[in-house]
Amino acid sequence: MPTLEPNLTLNNGVSMPALGLGVYQSPPEVTTHVVQTAIEAGYRLIDTASAYANEREVGAAIARATVDRGELFVTTKLWISDYGYESALRAFDVSMRKLGLDYLDLYLLHWPMPDDFEATIASYTAAEQLLSDGRVRAIGVCNHKPEHLDALVGRVDVVPAVNQVELHPYFAQPEVVSADSAHGVITQAWSPIGGRYVYGPKDPDNVKNVLEDPAVVAIAHKHAKTPAQVVLRWQVQCGRSAIPKSVRPERIAENIDIFDFALTPEELASIDALDTGVRGGYDPSAFNLKVFPATIPD
Ligand SMILES: NC(=O)c1ccc[n+]([C@@H]2O[C@H](COP(=O)([O-])OP(=O)(O)OC[C@H]3O[C@@H](n4cnc5c(N)ncnc54)[C@H](OP(=O)(O)O)[C@@H]3O)[C@@H](O)[C@H]2O)c1
Repeated sequence: MPTLEPNLTLNNGVSMPALGLGVYQSPPEVTTHVVQTAIEAGYRLIDTASAYANEREVGAAIARATVDRGELFVTTKLWISDYGYESALRAFDVSMRKLGLDYLDLYLLHWPMPDDFEATIASYTAAEQLLSDGRVRAIGVCNHKPEHLDALVGRVDVVPAVNQVELHPYFAQPEVVSADSAHGVITQAWSPIGGRYVYGPKDPDNVKNVLEDPAVVAIAHKHAKTPAQVVLRWQVQCGRSAIPKSVRPERIAENIDIFDFALTPEELASIDALDTGVRGGYDPSAFNLKVFPATIPD
């Protein structure tokens, strides 16, 4: 088993593993096995969401885990159809019932809703209540651009611990990382190895795979590591958290085996230089239920 991953300290003192397993698009029928495999491989952070429709299966893996609940760091997210103070509290209870947990480690707002930011604020206020009630150890947001984070922080009491955003070599969001850092927020990379560019390109004739980029491949050869390991090492070495998704045991093991080598400053800079400024996923400024009309069944 690889060395246990290092931890990051959140702005409220809670310790969070730097590397975790993401389970977006992990089909429910394989998710329990996938999460069990990851825990056995050394993962301690699992990132799910009510919108991923696999909280029950994540919970089943945690219930069967051979490590104590206290060693695991579990994240789930509030979906936008549940935004609002009372509805957020209710949705949290539904998530906790599905997960089978009596406390959560990190509760995130899944997207800002700029055209109904009052609902975003009300939802975050509910998360603050859950934090003060001891039902969750830390709270945060996803997909917040600097202007969204500024607007939120100006209206609430608790600065988010984490901002989880699309971030990979082709879309590195340096301005988001700087804004997060200025507020004391840890940036957590979703699609950390560029998955969104591969599974969801806006232009199907222009699929760009970070893991096939010549600069990444050359660095991987030099270190006798894989392209995914180089990109994840870049994420973690730059102080970010990353939550790669895989349903394949060999890749789950590969993706956490990044703590026995280091990239040089020149190698880090050459990966930084791959940024295109073009996102693969949705633009948070225009995100709402019309763009993604999912609701969460009980
Ligand atoms: N907050 C948000 O709005 C948001 C949005 C999107 C994602 N997320 C979170 O971030 C997590 C990760 O993002 P993501 O799933 O979009 O992208 P990702 O982790 O960058 O990429 C996942 C893709 O890469 C493949 N893969 C995994 N390891 C590999 C390796 N070592 N070599 C080659 N290919 C590999 C996976 O296929 P296999 O499974 O077949 O291995 C999958 O197709 C999600 O699962 C979710 O938890 C959050």
